[in-house]
Amino acid sequence: MGPGTSNLSPWRALLSLLGLIYALLAAPVQAYAELSDSTLRNIPSGADVLNPHSGALLSPILVPRVPGTPGSVAVQRHIVDFFARELPQWRLEWQNSTSRTPVTGTTDIPFANLVFTRDPPWTKGNGDVGRLALVAHYDSLYKPEGFIGATDSAAPCAILMQAARGLDAALTKKWTAIEESGDAGLGLEDDEKGIQILFLDGEEAWETWSDTDSLYGARSLAEKWEAETYPAQSTYQTPLNAINLFVLLDLLGAIDPHVPSYFPATHWAYQGMANIETRMRKLGLLDTKPKNPFLPESHKAVGRFRSNGFIADDHVPFMIRGVPILHVIPMPFPPTWHTIDDDADHLDLASIGDWAKIVTAFAAEWLELDEFMGQTRQEIRSRSEL
Ligand SMILES: *[C@@H]1O[C@H](CO)[C@@H](O)[C@H](O)[C@H]1NC(C)=O
Repeated sequence: MGPGTSNLSPWRALLSLLGLIYALLAAPVQAYAELSDSTLRNIPSGADVLNPHSGALLSPILVPRVPGTPGSVAVQRHIVDFFARELPQWRLEWQNSTSRTPVTGTTDIPFANLVFTRDPPWTKGNGDVGRLALVAHYDSLYKPEGFIGATDSAAPCAILMQAARGLDAALTKKWTAIEESGDAGLGLEDDEKGIQILFLDGEEAWETWSDTDSLYGARSLAEKWEAETYPAQSTYQTPLNAINLFVLLDLLGAIDPHVPSYFPATHWAYQGMANIETRMRKLGLLDTKPKNPFLPESHKAVGRFRSNGFIADDHVPFMIRGVPILHVIPMPFPPTWHTIDDDADHLDLASIGDWAKIVTAFAAEWLELDEFMGQTRQEIRSRSEL
């Protein structure tokens, strides 16, 4: 139900209006409340499930997974089964396409994007929900044969799975609280926030990176979502439009990453994530002790952004259609990039766990989950009884 169609009492309408005016006066548009220290302490790292050799989330992804091969199907199944088993409230949408590639002749290669969405339950997936999209690609490079792509992007995929797991209960609690308060469906912007996790296929080029040999899945999805329209009175016109921020993780999981801020338009979001890293380090919550932070460019001057200094990656088909992008990719790339050494042995578990915490906290802050991230005493008790 959208604004204007709900049955507001005059009193509630006045309150909402006052709230809106207050929000406009009091806060810069993109400001959100920081998570409290105690919430930061409650953010799980998932170190056990993210272990490259034994972790239930990461280790099954560390196989060659070239589109259209059995490895790709196995990883799809791993991701789908994980959500079905542990996070059944996330809606799954497959977005499939086919394409020829420069090295596979007249065969149509299948590309399958996996989109998992969790929206406030009263919204029924309509065009009034603005979403945080967390994104990584799950395919691996065709050559060298046997290429694993541990940082590229197995570890980022596992980090996103862990983040979904870390946010799920708090989302339920927040939305239950909103429903119980009677605010559900009033169209209050802060309440109409959802989250989407995109596992994209076919990021890699088969031969030489070009506009047509790369980003097979991302190009197909961005095109489809641009053409799909929501009902006329919706807040957002298309699913593409409804992405308030597209956070792309790539090449993460190696030691000592240096992730620059790439885009002035989303520097505020970069600063939000960097602030979380700084605060977590101060609180002693991160396992790595790098000389420089992972996200060192919070204070980058406006003039120091390179005018076309972006890296070709899955965000491009979305960016050229106007979606705001936060690209979390280190520069320089890990030394193992596109070599056979980009494997489990070259991952750093502490870095992966820290990224999982930072990304989970970033999303929790964006989704305003501060009061809902903690475990109640009862939950802790029932856990320890298991
Ligand atoms: C998309 O492809 C996957 C596997 O490649 C398949 O399991 C799924 O059913 C397909 N979905 C649709 C909607 O075609």
